[in-house]
Amino acid sequence: MTKTQIWLAGFLAVFFLLLVLGRLFKNDSDSKPKTSGNMMSQQKSAEQGDLSAEELINKFACAGCHGAGLSGGPNGPALAGLKTEWSRDNLINYLRNPNSFMDKDKFKAYRGKYSNTLMPPFNNVDIKDLGKIADYLLTK
Ligand code: HEC
Repeated sequence: MTKTQIWLAGFLAVFFLLLVLGRLFKNDSDSKPKTSGNMMSQQKSAEQGDLSAEELINKFACAGCHGAGLSGGPNGPALAGLKTEWSRDNLINYLRNPNSFMDKDKFKAYRGKYSNTLMPPFNNVDIKDLGKIADYLLTK
């Protein structure tokens, strides 16, 4: 090999090396925004309250008092057959401010039965989420 040929081979080798490195970095930066984009949209949907009624009921630990499957426990009544007495709006109002319903006979009876617990107000919960919970409860 002459000196020129060696230089030429050297340049070619460096050229290919740069080409390959360039590809690698390009793929790298292509894939990065994709993954963080996905993470962001997942976070967004959680923040926007895209939870189902069941997920919301888990989140607010309703079963802690109303029992597994909301079928009643020592600290709260079963949440079943609500549609016979509750309208959707009243139920949402109840969840936001249970106190204002206390003078109903049924709730006076609950006071005797569940004397250690009170239904907590969920007035800081997004109204749309309460609507979802109400819709769900009215199907049970
Ligand atoms: C700290 C215990 C507790 C938690 C947590 C709780 N509840 Fe209650 N809930 C009660 C009690 C006790 C009553 C009976 C009324 C009373 O004494 O305040 C009640 C009553 C109710 C009623 C009226 C039932 C009827 O017969 O008309 C509904 C509806 C209800 N709760 C829904 C929920 C939902 C939905 C959640 C979760 C978002 C929840 N509760 C979380 C204790 C609780």
